[in-house]
Parts: sequence; structure tokens; C-alpha cells
Amino acid sequence: MFQRLLMRGTTFRNRVLMSPMCMYAAEDGFPDRWHLAHYGARAAGGVGGIIVEATAVSPEGRITPGDLGIWNEAQVKAHGNLVDVIERDGAVAGIQLSHAGRRSGRTLPWNGNRYIAGEEWGPRISASALAYSEASPVPHGLKENEIRAVIGEFAAAARRAAMAGYRLVELHFAHGYLLHQFISPLTNHRSDGYGVEEGVHTRLPVEIVEVVRDAVGPEIIVSVRLSVVDWIEGGLRLEHSVRLSAALKSAGADIIDVSSGALVPGEKISPEPGYHAPFARAIREETGVATAVVGLVTEPRQAQAHLDAGDADLILLGRALLRDPYWVAREFENAENKGDLFPLPYRRALAGMKTRRVW
Ligand SMILES: Cc1cc2nc3c(=O)[nH]c(=O)nc-3n(C[C@H](O)[C@H](O)[C@H](O)COP(=O)(O)O)c2cc1C
Repeated sequence: MFQRLLMRGTTFRNRVLMSPMCMYAAEDGFPDRWHLAHYGARAAGGVGGIIVEATAVSPEGRITPGDLGIWNEAQVKAHGNLVDVIERDGAVAGIQLSHAGRRSGRTLPWNGNRYIAGEEWGPRISASALAYSEASPVPHGLKENEIRAVIGEFAAAARRAAMAGYRLVELHFAHGYLLHQFISPLTNHRSDGYGVEEGVHTRLPVEIVEVVRDAVGPEIIVSVRLSVVDWIEGGLRLEHSVRLSAALKSAGADIIDVSSGALVPGEKISPEPGYHAPFARAIREETGVATAVVGLVTEPRQAQAHLDAGDADLILLGRALLRDPYWVAREFENAENKGDLFPLPYRRALAGMKTRRVW
């Protein structure tokens, strides 16, 4: 867990990264002082890197009005401040780029998660004109020329992310958002060149990874988060995602961040600790791409076991790090290989904590 990882010239000081988690605390997509404190705390708490929450490539692509965005140059400066705070304490700054597709334009979770009227939000887009549920609006199925525009938005957002100083760009192709809507046969009923072939659609995700790799150059790490199974009859299965992962790797992706589900109502899954690990391991072994595993990792020994078993190269923590920004720090205090892996202010504080009298 405390072994460094070198990737494209960037060193992670350890293998534990903060998983992207929407905080719905932004206005007009800008990270502000609250985001600096929130992410700064996790960087100071010792994580190897942070993947900043789903950040929209266009205003209409936000899940809610509280999402972060990176669709204009003014936002780049604000993201630059966030990168500074994260990297000053030795964590690698990463960002997740996202378009919510048919799931966009909802009120904040604590305000009911309801779809905002189309006149107020703008058109919702998807692979096909299929609603998420009976209570959801029917999205506009993208025409081929409109798909080009979406590809352009991802490329521009990735270029801005690089300008802001992020060293890792993660593409959010999971959890029922726009790209997952293209990838899965449950939501992509197209019969043109952007349709499903042999159980999975690969063309658009591959094209986006190609333009993103072009936009960020060879030095930035590109990760892709996939929902590798849909947990429902007729949906994606692991074999499809192995094929997709291989194609994404060839297109320029460095990491497949392995998650699952959230595409359609009614999926059959009750998550257990480490439930994505076998998928991550299969993708890692069969394609040779690096993987990240996420989902109910709460204890250091679990993280270590996934690394030892070869399930993944990186462990992503979500809720455990919301509860405790110092999750890594606590473990480090007990670990033997102390060194420069840890932020200096905390090392000094630790030295002080070992004396009985601290005042
Ligand atoms: C509050 C909250 C917000 C989330 N937002 C995102 C997000 O922006 N992007 C994403 O890919 N996953 C998101 N997730 C999923 C997490 O990244 C993670 O995959 C999931 O919580 C499982 O990991 P855990 O058991 O360690 O929390 C979110 C989860 C939570 C709890």
C-alpha cells in the first residue's frame, strides 16, 4: 500500500486514491473555498492522489446545478487553485470529466433529485430516445453530427484540465451517464455506426479516448471509469467490458477504474466488500491495462489484500475518506516504512503526538 507507483512520469506516493464523489456544492461549475478545504484535507491526510468529483464538460451535461464544471476558461483558473492545494501536500491531482446524458438536469439530492423542466435546463441527450424510467423525460437520441460536438466537448475539457495542472484525467463512462448509455445494449438501440456490436458499443468511447489523449499529450495519465457489468438480463457482462477495456487501452487509456451498474432501474446486486475486485483482476490479466478497484474498501488490510492478489494497481476509497480524511495517515502511523511519503506538516505533528505532553 505504501509502495510508490510511477506512471507516465508521475509518481503516486502510495496506492490509495480518493474516488470521485459529487459534493453538489458548486455554483456555475466553479470550485470555491469549500472545495479547497474538502480536497485539501484528504491530500494532507496522505492519499496518493485525488480524483476530483464528476466535472461536467458542458453546462447541460451536469447532473445537478451544484456539479463542478470545466467548460470555460474562467473555470480553469479556479481548478488551478484546487490543483495547487492538492499537490502542495504531495497528492497527485486528478479530475473526472463527465456528461450525464439523459440523467442530467436534476435538483440537488436533498431537494428531491427531480428532473428540472426542459425549458429551464435544455435538451437531454442520449444514445437513443429512451427514458430512464416512466417518470423521466425522453432524451434526444444524438445524430452523428451531434456526436462530433460531444467528442469536441470532452477534448476541450481535457485540454483545460491539463492547463489547470491536473496530472490525471478520468473519463466517466460509468454509472448510467452519457457514455454508459452508448456502451450498453440496454440503452443503445442505434442501427448506425454508433450502435452495439456483439453485446457492447466501443466506437464512441474509443474515439473520445483518442481525442483526449491527443489533447493532453503523452505526460498525463488517462483513466476510464467503466460500469463493467449492468447486473441485469441483456446488459453488459464482464466479457464485453474486457473487450472494451482492451480497445480503450489501445486508444491511449492507462487505467481502467472498475465500477458497475446504475444504468437502469431494477438491477440485481447487493454490494459486498471488494465486489469489483474479481472484475478488475480479469481486466488487468486479460488486457494488461492497469486497474483501479473501488467499492466498500474500508480497512487497510482489504486494500493490501487486493494489491497482493493482483486485483489492481490502485485502490480507490469513497465513503471511507468522506468519514475520515486521515484514513491513510492513521495506517501510516502504524506502518514501518516511514519516509518522505507523507506530508511534512503531518510528520511534524506525529512527532509531537508521540511525546506525552503536547502543550
Ligand atoms: C456522495 C457520493 C458521490 C459520488 N459521486 C461520484 C462521482 O462523481 N463519480 C463517480 O464515478 N462515482 C461517484 N460516486 C461513487 C464513488 O466514487 C464510489 O465508486 C462508491 O462510493 C463506492 O466506493 P466506496 O464504497 O468506497 O464509497 C459517489 C459516491 C458517493 C457516496
